[in-house]
Amino acid sequence: MDRKVALVTGAARGIGLGVSARLAREGWHVVMADLDPPLAPPPGSVRAARADVGDPAAVEALVAGLRAEEGRLDALVSNAGIMIRKPIRELSVAEWSRVLATNLSATFLLVRAAEDLLRAARGAVVTIASTRAHQSEPHTEAYAASKGGLVALTHALAISLGPEVRVNCISPGWIHTQGEVLRPEDHAQHPAGRVGRVEDVAALVAWLIGPESGFVTGAEFIVDGGMTRRMIYAE
Ligand SMILES: NC(=O)c1ccc[n+]([C@@H]2O[C@H](COP(=O)([O-])OP(=O)(O)OC[C@H]3O[C@@H](n4cnc5c(N)ncnc54)[C@H](O)[C@@H]3O)[C@@H](O)[C@H]2O)c1
Repeated sequence: MDRKVALVTGAARGIGLGVSARLAREGWHVVMADLDPPLAPPPGSVRAARADVGDPAAVEALVAGLRAEEGRLDALVSNAGIMIRKPIRELSVAEWSRVLATNLSATFLLVRAAEDLLRAARGAVVTIASTRAHQSEPHTEAYAASKGGLVALTHALAISLGPEVRVNCISPGWIHTQGEVLRPEDHAQHPAGRVGRVEDVAALVAWLIGPESGFVTGAEFIVDGGMTRRMIYAE
């Protein structure tokens, strides 16, 4: 394939769909991996691929398909993620494991399967963690642990895969994806004056896998409108 190829996971909706649309618009060929078909396939060169990225065999099959169909991989955007919010006494081992598999092990599985393709392309990896890697609401242990692990996995991979492959992490704050109605106070509490949009994350992904970020690897970028810099004490 002549075009550069990006693999985006969790691409059927939300941030992953927005990232896929942005990259396709910029001329990338995008393999959109998800459990579900895309809500609305974006214009451009895209291929939807069904895969459970927490399942080792499914990841092997996904990368084998990419090897056969596209024959190259220039960028991996490891974005698929789930949250199960339950008091810890109610959280089953199966639920804990599913969150860890989807949010953390998937990146290990994807990079392990595609390392040679990424190295050959002198490619880039972007992981999507969360500001919840650093701060928490109650009953989010599995999610926070998975995202904290993903931040650490990102810098470990950057050291192992360099200099051929750069690996960076984006930790979003509140990104509006579900179509829920936002109140004025939802926007106002952010130092940036608004809740985030998928385009805010997509723009940074495009830069991190593009030619202008060649001196950036192993880094975590917080995209949260300043929320984690805001000190909050009850009045
Ligand atoms: N939206 C936010 O406010 C926010 C904030 C911080 C971090 N994030 C992170 O950003 C990423 C995307 O979030 P979003 O809000 O767009 O989520 P979303 O729920 O809208 O979309 C997630 C997508 O991932 C897919 N997916 C889930 N499990 C999968 C699996 N095992 N294999 C393949 N695909 C799977 C889903 O089908 C879905 O299409 C997630 O990792 C999430 O943790 C989101």
